[in-house]
Amino acid sequence: MNRIFQAIVALFVLATVATAAGGPSLEKGKELFTSTSLGTNGRSCAGCHANGKGLEEVANYDEKSLSKIINQCIVKALDGKPLTVDSVELSSLVMYVNSLGAAKAK
Ligand code: HEC
Repeated sequence: MNRIFQAIVALFVLATVATAAGGPSLEKGKELFTSTSLGTNGRSCAGCHANGKGLEEVANYDEKSLSKIINQCIVKALDGKPLTVDSVELSSLVMYVNSLGAAKAK
């Protein structure tokens, strides 16, 4: 009985934290895309991919491959640490990059 109670409390705490932090969103993706905080060399994604430059083909990747590529750019182009797979940050970036690609493909 005690274990079940603990599990319920843990779930409740997790749900509260998740709601407070919010899920992935385009706004968060945009913020990260233009922010220099992902890396250590003062660059941002937008510095190289202004207005979706170079992102015309992103619709051809699934979310998992896109996450990998984004992390490669963070590590190689921004001298940053890769984001955790399925994190709000990475999911938001995937969302935003996809929106740029879709706009470009038109
Ligand atoms: C120093 C310049 C630079 C920065 C900064 C940079 N990238 Fe890139 N990115 C590139 C280059 C170069 C390529 C590979 C060549 C290409 O497809 O344009 C690329 C490729 C990509 C691709 C794959 C495009 C494709 O169709 O193959 C994605 C997605 C991407 N970058 C996202 C990002 C994101 C998100 C960030 C920020 C975290 C970022 N990039 C930061 C230079 C950069």
